[in-house]
Amino acid sequence: MDDMAGGVSVPNDLEAFWMPFTANRQFKKAPRLFVSAEGMYYTTHDGRQVLDGTAGLWCVNAGHARPKIVEAIRHQATVLDYAPPFQMAHPGGFEVASRLAGLLPGDLDHVFFTNSGSESVDTALKIALAWQRARGEGSRTRLIGRERGYHGVGFGGISVGGMVANRKQFGTLLGGVDHIRHTHDLEHQAYSRGQPDWGAHLADDLERLVQLHDASTIAAVIVEPFAGSAGVLLPPKGYLEKLRAICDRHGILLIFDEVITGFGRLGRFSAAELFGIQPDIVTLAKGLTNGSVPMGAVVVRKPIYEAFMHGPEHLVELFHGYTYSAHPLACAAALAAFETYREDGLFTRAAELGPYWEDAVHSLKGEPHIIDLRNMGLLAGIELEPRPGEPARRAFDAFLACYEAGVLIRTTGDIIALTPPLIIDKPEIDRLIDTVRTVLRGID
Ligand SMILES: Cc1ncc(COP(=O)(O)O)c(C=O)c1O
Repeated sequence: MDDMAGGVSVPNDLEAFWMPFTANRQFKKAPRLFVSAEGMYYTTHDGRQVLDGTAGLWCVNAGHARPKIVEAIRHQATVLDYAPPFQMAHPGGFEVASRLAGLLPGDLDHVFFTNSGSESVDTALKIALAWQRARGEGSRTRLIGRERGYHGVGFGGISVGGMVANRKQFGTLLGGVDHIRHTHDLEHQAYSRGQPDWGAHLADDLERLVQLHDASTIAAVIVEPFAGSAGVLLPPKGYLEKLRAICDRHGILLIFDEVITGFGRLGRFSAAELFGIQPDIVTLAKGLTNGSVPMGAVVVRKPIYEAFMHGPEHLVELFHGYTYSAHPLACAAALAAFETYREDGLFTRAAELGPYWEDAVHSLKGEPHIIDLRNMGLLAGIELEPRPGEPARRAFDAFLACYEAGVLIRTTGDIIALTPPLIIDKPEIDRLIDTVRTVLRGID
């Protein structure tokens, strides 16, 4: 512990930074640093160009360093760097909120700002509990998630989340949480193009939990419309519709975690719009500012907001918020991002490119190690057979080899996820897929 007083003595020493979700020791032996980025490409510290096959972390949907967004952030920093969001405000927050309300379906009309997807999830769960209480259903304290779900890394998010590695180190988590089963089944779904035909009945697992706990104890169900971080697990046809119906039947709020599916990934602004399903609460982040400034949002239906607007008007209605809620730089970035998305038609581009993307992804069928290919919008999951006794090793080797070949992919376990910026063109799709093909042929 004495060492801690000394601080870091070596400039640019890699040791001090405890990197998130990273194999720190492996990384620090062979660092991979990006020093700049533009459009579809990063530049590495050793001067190489790397094609971005993952839109950063599913967030840079319009590509990197878009001029309007860069300029908006620069300008905002000179005009108003910060304004307290508690009992005060600045115009930008209202403008972003109104635009978001206009982009989401139905009466998803009220927006609470956060700084990340994790904070959005925890905020949504808190609002769900507080709303049930506000409407006189205070016994509804149970939260339901789904196996293999990813909802960020706050205690709320990992509690309703279902990725074992993200949960097992952190004790008992939130009480009163349960999970429906996940929807992934290779026996029935392998090589699906778009939504799998099989599996709508898996939504009935929610009925099982209602039978077990009684609806009067359940506040909300949270799901990602497709599970992203767990490896691109797509919703079977009819599954989300069934979940909605079961929630309606039992007075349970349905929360869609659209942190990944928002902002055009599936060829519409949101998965709610694409599937024609009205969730009660939607969580957003990532593409909200095109990844340029941290920002998240929780959008709730009108009656949820209104249920809190009672009592003496000088009193705070919801005791929740962040120092950086609706930060001026984030709001400026979000407004410029909306403009960029609109100008480039990016909310529908994934639908336009979808058929080409689908064929390109499925052209990998039969290549070494592949046991499944799946796609929707501009995303793909490529599932590999794990190396016996070495889970996640084969996909990690593929990740490193792709990086050496100038392409950034992302892996989770033995699944490769491809989610390029929505500005990708057909030759870049070919290059992305061909690099994966060559790499898989070259590794054991
Ligand atoms: C569906 C979903 N929810 C929440 C999060 C957490 O977002 P953040 O990393 O910004 O906290 C993520 C991040 O990947 C996500 O995919």
